Amino acid sequence: MNAERKSAKRKEKMMKVGIAADHGGFELKVELIGSLKAAGYEVVDFGAHELVAGDDYPDFVVSLAIAVTIGKVIRGIAICGSGVGACVAANKVPGVRAGLITDSFSAHQGVEDDNMNVMCLGGRVIGQALAWDLVKIFLSASFKGTDRFKRRLAKVAALERKKKL
Ligand code: RB5
Repeated sequence: MNAERKSAKRKEKMMKVGIAADHGGFELKVELIGSLKAAGYEVVDFGAHELVAGDDYPDFVVSLAIAVTIGKVIRGIAICGSGVGACVAANKVPGVRAGLITDSFSAHQGVEDDNMNVMCLGGRVIGQALAWDLVKIFLSASFKGTDRFKRRLAKVAALERKKKL
C-alpha cells in the first residue's frame, strides 16, 4: 500500500467512532450521533436502538468496548445515567481504558497520558452542549507515548494478564 493510500486509510479509521447507551444515556446518545455525523464522523451505534426503561448498560457497552479493542472503531463513547456503570463495565474488557469524563482537562489528558480509548458520560449529569465539547476534545487528543506513560500502561496491562492479584 503506498503512503498516500495508507494515510487516507488511517484518516478514515480515525473518523470511525462507536457509541452506546442505556436508557439513562439514550437521549444524549441520539444528540451526540447527530453532532458526530454533522462533523463528518462515521458512527457505529451499539444501541440501545430504542428507549426501553430498565434496560441494562452492559448489554450495549460491552459490545462497544470489544469493538474498540479489535479496532472496529477507533474510540468509544459509553453513556448511562451517571456514566459510572458504563465505565465499570467497559473497563472489564481487556484492552479498554475507559474514563468517566466531566471536564475538558481530563478529556484530553486522559488520552495524552493514559491512552483512554473509551469516554464515559452521564446522560443525567451533563448537558448536551458540554458533552459535545468533551467528545470533540477527546477525539482530537492523541496519546503522547512518552516512556513514563508507556511504563505505567504496561503495568496496567500486566494486571489484565494476571488471574489473581
Ligand atoms: C439506570 O437507571 C442507571 O442506574 C444507569 O443508567 C447508570 O447510571 C448506572 O451507572
